[in-house]
Amino acid sequence: MSIAGEWGFNPLEDPSQDPAEIAKQAAFEIAVATGIGHHDIALTLGSGWAAVVDLIGKTTEEIPAEEITGFSSSGIPGHLGTIRSVILPNNKRALVIGARTHLYEGRGAQGFVRRVVHSVRTAAASGAKTMVLTHGAGGIRPAWQPGTPVLIKDHLNLTGTTPIEGATFIDMTNVYTPALRDLAKSVDPSLGEGVLAQVPGPQYETPAEVQMLRGLGADMVGMSVALEAMAARQAGMDVLGLSLITNQAAGISPTPLSHKEVLEAGAKAEPRVSALLARILEQI
Ligand code: HPA
Repeated sequence: MSIAGEWGFNPLEDPSQDPAEIAKQAAFEIAVATGIGHHDIALTLGSGWAAVVDLIGKTTEEIPAEEITGFSSSGIPGHLGTIRSVILPNNKRALVIGARTHLYEGRGAQGFVRRVVHSVRTAAASGAKTMVLTHGAGGIRPAWQPGTPVLIKDHLNLTGTTPIEGATFIDMTNVYTPALRDLAKSVDPSLGEGVLAQVPGPQYETPAEVQMLRGLGADMVGMSVALEAMAARQAGMDVLGLSLITNQAAGISPTPLSHKEVLEAGAKAEPRVSALLARILEQI
């Protein structure tokens, strides 16, 4: 646990502090803990994607996330709660973040969005130029069965908040880097692409809400990624986003949703989609 964390204090909650400076401190602590001063690429592994870490290279260091300034441990089953430094076959370094903070964990607290994107800012401060964001999502396109991986081509940020502070005008035309999407499609030409709607959660949607999202142009719905992708773009990183369809969104399938089934579908698809992502990463 970081010294500040031991006292129950998270500096990200202090509005007078610059979150980019806190991310630099976190990056410094990661460098000390891993012995690696620079990471080239960073990955956030959400539900159904955790197996990627063992397929892409060798983990040389693994740190409980809560030991690093600004991070808190993940209370959500299916999430790792650690930060790893992985050496890739091409000798590049990957920072693998298995500890995602979701917006709903803040119970609506103002400023909590800083915590949600802290891992991305820390990855940027660690030197990473590419951010790979993965998660589980509900599929709105009826053809997408649970277990289908989908490239995120754009998003609708429906969280009602933003990680961008002050009068900072960031272009959002190509949040999900076209060259990375092309590369992913060259590895698997059958990979579908879609627009992700990020909602605040934690409840799943009503069927009426899913129909509304469909009308707005969404192909899948989830409770993470868009805010992180925005922070990554602000930090100048390239972004690759991948959803794993863990369930058909409410009302698309006649059966009610259960978190347990969402996790089970993620776990079942994990070896296959993780292998796919590992093949994509070999090309980056
Ligand atoms: N809705 C929102 N988030 C999700 C879903 C869903 O159906 N499945 C997994 N994450």
